Amino acid sequence: MANEAWRSKLTRERKPSLARRERRLRSTPALRRMVRETTLAAEDFVYPLFVRHGRDERRPIASMPGVFQLSVDQAVVEAEHAVSLGIPAVLLFGIPESKDPIGEENFSPRGVVPQAVRAIKQAAPELVVITDVCLCEYTDHGHCGVLNAGGEDRPHPRLPEGYVLNDETLEVLDRVAVAHGEAGADMVAPSGMIDGMVGSIRTALDAAELTHVGILSYSVKYASAFYGPFREAAEGAPKFGDRKTHQMDPANAREAQRDVEEGADVLMVKPALAYLDVIRLLRDRFDAYPLAAYNVSGEYAMIKAAANGWIDERSAVLETLTAIKRAGADVIITYHAKEAAQWLK
Ligand code: PBG
Repeated sequence: MANEAWRSKLTRERKPSLARRERRLRSTPALRRMVRETTLAAEDFVYPLFVRHGRDERRPIASMPGVFQLSVDQAVVEAEHAVSLGIPAVLLFGIPESKDPIGEENFSPRGVVPQAVRAIKQAAPELVVITDVCLCEYTDHGHCGVLNAGGEDRPHPRLPEGYVLNDETLEVLDRVAVAHGEAGADMVAPSGMIDGMVGSIRTALDAAELTHVGILSYSVKYASAFYGPFREAAEGAPKFGDRKTHQMDPANAREAQRDVEEGADVLMVKPALAYLDVIRLLRDRFDAYPLAAYNVSGEYAMIKAAANGWIDERSAVLETLTAIKRAGADVIITYHAKEAAQWLK
């Protein structure tokens, strides 16, 4: 439309005088930067790595483009790359050689995770190494705990067959945490949502003179559909049933208190995007604790899938991560960590 055409239609006698014009501070990149409330940086990120046995292995995960199952030597390469990008920490998940009902490799000093911890610590001593502590990748049934067997002589006749046995599972988690701590992990991250896991692991670590090993607890971990791609990546999908008897109901938010009382050093909300209100709730309620949020596999996969031209990947990733930080997370566990750190350089 020519200038004159709309001018004649919009001419106003009096120029309006608005008391505030918010757009003034949005008008240039420098002004926007000056008044920005939330800034994202590489040091906010934790980069998850999936480690498996073998050498020179980088097995792609179909539902998570850019993420691989790595042999220990390749995990070391990734860890060094993370350091060079300014990322302070990695979170390790293990894929064992073989699986059994209680997941024995999980607490073996020769397990793939202790091997990776030792190798990464040797190559990059300044990197914080956190390890996932759970049973699902290691058990033949894919559940996050020891299960009540079937039949006449089942250990707990009053509990249903296949029930995730809480207290037996704690014993396994204790041993896993100690094995990881002995290998040199800085922190362990119990993710199974087993009652009492934080207190039990704290006691076990302390008894093994691993008082310096911290606990990053999945304080609020929901039974979520957004873990789908992870279960392919870590080969830890349950063979039957689901995780609703221990992971939190997505409709709830008030259950995080317990981990604080039991001695968690860092709290976590997982997943992140559908639970930004819960991140804010924990940030406000537990003032003295660092708070982590897990930008999970399904959240990553959704952006990667839409980055085929439907959305601009870089903007969508940085907007997402900024939102998680704005909601109150101090630490963001994300598969986007390397790319985001590169973009933020
Ligand atoms: C359990 C565990 C899961 C994730 C982290 N730890 C899967 C589950 O609870 O079923 C999911 C992480 C992700 O989706 O990125 N060991």
